[in-house]
Amino acid sequence: MRLGESTPRSESIKASEARKQLHRKPGPVSNRAEPIRSVKGTRDLLPRETALWQRVEDEARRVFASYNFREIRTPILEQTALFARSVGADTDIVTKEMYTFQDRDDEFLTLRPEATASVVRAYIEDTMYNEGGIHKLYYIGPMFRRERPQKGRYRQFFQIGAEVLGSDHPTIDAEFLEMLVLLLTRVGLTEYKLLLNSVGCPKCRPAFVEVLRQALDKVKDQMCGDCQRRAETNPLRVLDCKVEADQPIIENLPHIIDHLCPECRAHFDHVTKELGERGVSYQITPRLVRGLDYYTRTTFEMTSSVLGAQNAFLGGGRYDGLSEMLGGPPTPGFGVAIGEDRLLLMVEQAATLKADDALDVFVAWMGDAGGRPAAQLAKTLRQEGLRVESNYEAAKLKKSLGQASKQGARFAVIIGEGELTSGRYQVKDMATTQQEEVDPQGIASYLKEKLQKGSH
Ligand code: HAM
Repeated sequence: MRLGESTPRSESIKASEARKQLHRKPGPVSNRAEPIRSVKGTRDLLPRETALWQRVEDEARRVFASYNFREIRTPILEQTALFARSVGADTDIVTKEMYTFQDRDDEFLTLRPEATASVVRAYIEDTMYNEGGIHKLYYIGPMFRRERPQKGRYRQFFQIGAEVLGSDHPTIDAEFLEMLVLLLTRVGLTEYKLLLNSVGCPKCRPAFVEVLRQALDKVKDQMCGDCQRRAETNPLRVLDCKVEADQPIIENLPHIIDHLCPECRAHFDHVTKELGERGVSYQITPRLVRGLDYYTRTTFEMTSSVLGAQNAFLGGGRYDGLSEMLGGPPTPGFGVAIGEDRLLLMVEQAATLKADDALDVFVAWMGDAGGRPAAQLAKTLRQEGLRVESNYEAAKLKKSLGQASKQGARFAVIIGEGELTSGRYQVKDMATTQQEEVDPQGIASYLKEKLQKGSH
């Protein structure tokens, strides 16, 4: 197994250090322990951010559902061999970026760096292929890669991904890309580019790799160490080298798109023709081979100037041989993973999608008698799907209204002695400060109409 990671021996030294740290007492200087910080490259998504994340995920779920995708949730931990075999033993992900450790029973495990391999593993393990037909699956969750953290790049990051298993028809590719455009429209994004290429198949790629190897022989001495090695071991990987000085050399290397076999050429032409018919704009990008080894035929990425030219916010393509690489029956596949952290950066910048997590109503009650009717009203309003808060102990009106406005409530319902006697509650619009007396039975529909909210 080629991991480029720690040997078991250095793992165990690290493990014993970790144990020591675990039992270390806080220093004697003060009773207050050193705060423990989040791990480098990871971050907390705080309540002020998560509302927008949820909104984006809701839109994704809706769009996936309308294209008949269903959710799959696979484990975050997988056997290391799964990624070595599928993503490729010579890729950056496998040689440098995976979080791999030896479990107590000596098994090598890895925190998933991506989920396509996991989805295909699950498809095989569950013998989904026995059901026949096409399987359309999506997932949302964290992935782990030990990269150098920077804007939009984390060691724990999130992907929204979707995979279609069971057909190599080019219409799958075109319809899938149409779906991505719809998803981006739904989250308010219009400024992005779809880069498209074909990386051929096992029939035409070896001949191209030979052409590439010969071209590299002439220039590899001027390239970075990784490229020099890859020119020998896996020349296609040279094409996704990120080293600045190598870029002019790479620009002049031969293009795989000019070396496709007739079947791959026809497939690609069909995809581009259908994209045109579906109104999806794209830019053919011959260098786009993607950083993972399982791709065949169509590959794509989307980039946005918000992130800088190098950074794709999503990527994917066809992987017709992956199932067999993982010991399953021949099953063509096509999919995408959207970098959710990057997507959110773009959504925030575009500022067209709004997250609705403002408080609808604050039920403000006073005096001992107010508690029960307030709790009852809050329960009814919550059952109707409104976001409701209330004071937990009797409080002066001024204090409760202060809380209501601090929490951004749009309305306050006031239940004091007067209201209990009259049997009608005061409803205050917090923005206009206007008050109206409303019958308790009618408050839910009154507020829903004002807030234009349907019941959930
Ligand atoms: P990928 O290109 O390795 O493809 O990752 C997809 C997206 O995940 C990237 O375009 C990027 O937006 C995001 N991403 C990757 N690494 C990081 C990071 N360290 N921090 C933040 N975002 C990151 C795949 O993962 C394939 N499984 C896609 C696929 C699905 N192909 C077929 N089906």
